[in-house]
Formats: sequence, C-alpha cells, structure tokens
Amino acid sequence: MNVLVVGSGGREHALCWALSKSDQINSLFCAPGNGGIEEVANCVSLDIADNQAIVRFCQEKEIGFVVVGPEAPLVAGLVDTLDKAGISSFGPRAAAAALEGSKGFMKDLCRDYNIPTAAYERFSDAGSAKDYLKNQSFPIVIKADGLAAGKGVIIAQNLQEAEETVDEIFGGLFGGAGAEIVIEEFMTGEEASFFVLTDGENILPLATAQDHKAVGDGDTGPNTGGMGAYSPAPVMDDAMIKQTIETIIKPTVAAMKDRGCPYTGVLYAGLMITSEGPKLIEYNVRFGDPECQVLCARMDSDLLPALMATANGTLASTVLDWKPDPALVVVMAAEGYPGSYVKNTEINGLSQANATENVIVLHAGTKKEDNKILSTGGRVLGVTASGASVTDAQTSAYTAISKIDWPEGFCRKDIGWRAVKREQEQ
Ligand code: AMP
Ligand code: GLY
Repeated sequence: MNVLVVGSGGREHALCWALSKSDQINSLFCAPGNGGIEEVANCVSLDIADNQAIVRFCQEKEIGFVVVGPEAPLVAGLVDTLDKAGISSFGPRAAAAALEGSKGFMKDLCRDYNIPTAAYERFSDAGSAKDYLKNQSFPIVIKADGLAAGKGVIIAQNLQEAEETVDEIFGGLFGGAGAEIVIEEFMTGEEASFFVLTDGENILPLATAQDHKAVGDGDTGPNTGGMGAYSPAPVMDDAMIKQTIETIIKPTVAAMKDRGCPYTGVLYAGLMITSEGPKLIEYNVRFGDPECQVLCARMDSDLLPALMATANGTLASTVLDWKPDPALVVVMAAEGYPGSYVKNTEINGLSQANATENVIVLHAGTKKEDNKILSTGGRVLGVTASGASVTDAQTSAYTAISKIDWPEGFCRKDIGWRAVKREQEQ
C-alpha cells in the first residue's frame, strides 16, 4: 500500500520514521515534509491547506491511507474531504476536531457529561468578561477559543493583568481565534500528557509522556510548542491511568458519539494531576509534538495496522507493544524562539550526532539545500534517545547534542529533570 503523511514537523518525522519500518508499505510520501523526512519518505510540496490538492495527489499516486499529523488540516475538514473521495485516513473529522478547535466546545462537553476539568465561563465580548473577572480569585487562566498555535493561553496574576488580557484578545492578539474566550480556574499540580487511539467506540491507550512547555531551564520563561519530553511520565502510574480512562477518556468518547460526532484518531489529553485526581486541561486531536517522538521511539509494533484499525473501527482487536525502556527528546530551537528568530542557518554534525548509541535525530524545521541542512523554523531538531532509565536517555541525548555544530541554535539543558530527580531519590 502507498501511504501519505501530512505535515512537516518533528511529529511527522517520527511518524514517517516509524511507518518506514512497516513491511506493509510500498511507497511512503510526506507532504510537505522536511530535510530529515527526506531520508525515510518521498517529500512532495503540496499545500496542506488545500484539501482538494491532497485528494488529487492521493488519486494520482494511488494512496491507500493518509495520516494527518497537525491539527489545522483536521479542523479544516481534510478527513471529511478524503472520506468523500473514498480515501481512508487517520484523524478526526472536522466536527470531532472541535475538541481542539474550540476550547468552549470542549469545556461545554465536559460540563454536560461531568468530565473533571477547571471551572470556566465563555465570553464573546470584553464587557461581560470583565464583569465576571471582578468576583474571581487570582491567578486566573484566559484562553482564546480557537487554534492559536499553542500560544492562546494566558495566566493572569491579578485583576489588572486579566482585564488587559481580555482587551488584547478581543483587540485581535490571536486574530479570529480570539473572537470568543474561555476564562477558567487556575489549577495546580503536575502536568502529564496521555494518549489513546480510538475508533469512536473502542479505546487503545498508548504510552504516557511529560513535556516541557516553557522555553527556559527550570520550566521558566514563555511557553513554546514544547522544548522536550519523555515517556513514560512517572506521575501516571497504573492507578492514575485507570482513573484517567474511566473519568475522562471513556466519558469523552461516549459523549462525542452521543453528540453525533464520533471521535476517531489519536486523542491527546493534557492533564493536571491535582490533589483531587486528574483533571483535563485541554484536548488535542493529534499526536503531541515532541511527545510523538518519544512514543515512536518506544513503540515495538508496526504502527500502520494500529492507525488503520483506528480509522476502520477495528481497534478492539489491536494490540501495540511497547519497549519498557524510557525515551527522552530534547528540542533544539533557533535562537530567539518562541519570539522572532533567524532562518536558513546551517547545521553541521548531524551524522555524528545520529551515530550516538540509542539516539535518533528527528528534524522539525529543516530543509536540505546543496547537501547542506538549513534551519527553517523555530523548533528545528528533536534529539531523541532511549535508555535503561530517563537519566541514561538524558545523558545520551545531550552527548549527541554536543556533536551538533549549530551556533544559531539552543536547547534546554534540563529536559527530564523531574524524572531524573525521582530516579536519584529511589
Ligand atoms: P493549553 O494550551 O490549554 O494546554 O495550555 C497551555 C498551558 O497553560 C498548559 O500546559 C498549562 O501549563 C497551562 N494551563 C492551561 N490551563 C490551565 C489551568 N486551568 N490551570 C493551570 N494551568 C493551565
Ligand atoms: N507538546 C505540546 C503539543 O503538542 O501541543
């Protein structure tokens, strides 16, 4: 079978790397891909916002299955369009992708079906949002309703900051994504990411992971798309996983079916492990990036049949094996990220880094030009390592990074610190 992966980030490199090991695939394509994906798939320059162009490409190349990586094409209905053309694909339809595409939709679903999440209210004008804020305690969390590339969440420390934030969002800070806002209670606890595949009815739990959203060491500074991650997340022990499935995941899958928009694909729950148990921070309708990198590093089964069973409604009979060893990914970003950064800087030493034992360097924002690898994005590389412990994986990842020659890049030096500390205490 010929398979197309849609996307160009580290997540898509990880998916292509995993899928390239499948003996069920004749030709693997990636649109548009990147400088690293080229090594494992045929990269094609397609506009992934153009659903019809993707359909035409699939017909031309006899693509039997499409794996949609990022959220934007899912929210824009790529899976619906592929369905209409009779092309099987992995990911939710637009109506179900609203779980990520509209925070208000997600929160209302939680309220209606008793799914634990932060208390909240929705607003579509600044006046009523500010009236509400007068009687709240702080810090408080203000979110743009729509997709804002992971940046649409602001934690306001006091009333003044909160009012300014409301004005900024309604003033266009996040464009159309901020036409509506959600104001919610600030929760405290440790964060974890939990992933399941679901075909709309059955659930197949994947591994747990923890990512580091803040740009700076010690989890300081502004939030990013994720500066590193590791799997498993020690805070997600068996009891916590069970509680999450029973109180959050199963009720969500049942609720989506009940609402007439059954959810199929990977459901990524961002969790806060509070003193009252796991609570949902947000849903994403795709694999996490860079969490996908560590999930793929730990996967010990062919990924393709599991993704196809998710799409075809046959997940009940699917088993996925996982390597017990933890994996850890350190993201290398362009200096300045998550603010403005320079592009097209040259990166050397990648083959030496890749040759480090138990390490694979996945590309997130690169292109190959004249046999040189150049940076094209904010997050540029994901150095992914496995090890007998998180500490070992961390050592291997940073050993590989020391071989990368990229003066315009940087990374956090402490990815995995919570798990490493736990391992030292044991
Ligand atoms: P989100 O994009 O919704 O995942 O939010 C980004 C980050 O903001 C999360 O990973 C949390 O660190 C933080 N956050 C979001 N909502 C809350 C909340 N209700 N309480 C505390 N922190 C939150
Ligand atoms: N790593 C966070 C995300 O993919 O949204």
